[in-house]
Amino acid sequence: MSQTLHNLHKALREQLLPVTVSPAQAAVEADLILEGVLQVNPAVVYTDGDQELSAHQSHLVQQFLEQRVQKRIPVQYLLHQAYFYGLKFYVNPYVLIPRPETELLVEKALDFLKPGMSVLDVGTGPGTIAIAISHKAGEEARVVASDVSAMALKVARINQKNLKTAVEFKPPGDLFMTVGEERFNLIVSNPPYIDESLKSTLAPEVLWHEPQTALFPPGEDVYYFYRRLAQEAKQYLKPAGRLLVECGAGMSPSICQLFTVAGYHNIQVIRDYAGLDRIVSADA
Ligand SMILES: C[S@@+](CC[C@H](N)C(=O)[O-])C[C@H]1O[C@@H](n2cnc3c(N)ncnc32)[C@H](O)[C@@H]1O
Repeated sequence: MSQTLHNLHKALREQLLPVTVSPAQAAVEADLILEGVLQVNPAVVYTDGDQELSAHQSHLVQQFLEQRVQKRIPVQYLLHQAYFYGLKFYVNPYVLIPRPETELLVEKALDFLKPGMSVLDVGTGPGTIAIAISHKAGEEARVVASDVSAMALKVARINQKNLKTAVEFKPPGDLFMTVGEERFNLIVSNPPYIDESLKSTLAPEVLWHEPQTALFPPGEDVYYFYRRLAQEAKQYLKPAGRLLVECGAGMSPSICQLFTVAGYHNIQVIRDYAGLDRIVSADA
């Protein structure tokens, strides 16, 4: 007997529940599968849920589900797409999947930027922060981005083309290495900040599939990139320029200390919508 769309959606939600964080997340992924694998608008589940699937459609969804549930491959990598700041980005396993909490960094960057200003995104990955800023600010801001990973920058260029923004992606290089002499009004960064010792607590989707260079700082110093940004960003900032960095829960006091010692002022911690310290802002 063939399966209806409504039954498929219910079965998907049930099978996705053990590999997602909540029933709501399982429902979001079930919607994404309908849209991405069957090109069916998820609203149809409610408006025309008795529609029957062909054997081929059922087979396609089953194959997809095996990859997702057994191999724990994130749905974004399987579909090669992730949404960030309302924009659809191409992603593959060479780049971190953008996280919704990082949208706050874009908000704070846009609050600071005035027409004619420039911004540098360090560790741009698939270009998410830089492209979202450029998309919103348009020609009013010059946006430049860098990353150490050549493969990540390839993805960023695909996104740049798809989303028709004007970000200047530098050749691959460590932090500011390929940035040149230019100084910026704003430097933003969401650097790798997961403590290697917490590896065993990470979901298989993250640990097995996301790039290690995007997750973990090198060595044992979880503040490695904040320490370097505190020391090195200043020479790339214009007078009265600002440094905005994303951080993990509990990290902001040490980051504030690093920025204070490096001579920044007006250092502020910004909380995310869950009430967690998420961004540290510091003026040169
Ligand atoms: C946490 S991911 C952030 C990606 C993206 N900006 C976002 O917010 O979703 C960190 C990024 O920093 C890059 N990265 C790691 N080490 C770096 C280094 N030494 N210099 C520049 N970028 C680096 C990684 O390749 C990765 O793209």
